[in-house]
Amino acid sequence: RALQRADAIAEMGWDELEASVAGCRACGLCKGRANTVFGVGDRKAKWLFVGEGPGYNENLQGEPFVGAAGHLLDNMMRGLDMQRGENTFIANVVKCRPTDAQGKDRPPTPEEAAACLPYLKRQIELIKPGVIVALGKTAAISLLGLDPETPVGQLRGKPHRYAKLPLVVTYHPAYLLRKPIEKSKAWADLCLAANAADSAGSV
Ligand code: URA
Repeated sequence: RALQRADAIAEMGWDELEASVAGCRACGLCKGRANTVFGVGDRKAKWLFVGEGPGYNENLQGEPFVGAAGHLLDNMMRGLDMQRGENTFIANVVKCRPTDAQGKDRPPTPEEAAACLPYLKRQIELIKPGVIVALGKTAAISLLGLDPETPVGQLRGKPHRYAKLPLVVTYHPAYLLRKPIEKSKAWADLCLAANAADSAGSV
């Protein structure tokens, strides 16, 4: 059943994909949501940023990275002479907000991430970005199919591949807000991503 669903998603165009996410009931996260968060940006973007999942603000607004972490992501993009929607697309591994028993944000479970991943995979196929930037552990392990215990510190700083596309792992902006000293490493990762995007564009 899950395979059939994934096969169907793998054939969808943008409109169908967006409608399918909006009505998705593939996991329990649909119960508490105010909005699904499909992702925003240029559908021919060179840069695809992938976060973890909607938080409090994103769930209310239906848009990714609109809170404090999003503000930092906007600044990171500005540092690369880019802005939201201009040659960039921002998406998440899960499209609905995961919350714990107290109603606080939490990471998605591996099952929730797996149920939602066909949507992100299709988004990547449709966008065909020059580079994917995995923001934090959830995005990195979901796209690279790694052990959930792998620390981001071990994955960042070197280029990876997802379906032949260059993929660079860096710290999640929410983590950088807590640990600003790591921002220089994130900056180095973005430079690596810029190089990967450029060389991908020239082949
Ligand atoms: N954190 C994420 O990973 N994604 C968002 O959209 C917002 C915060």
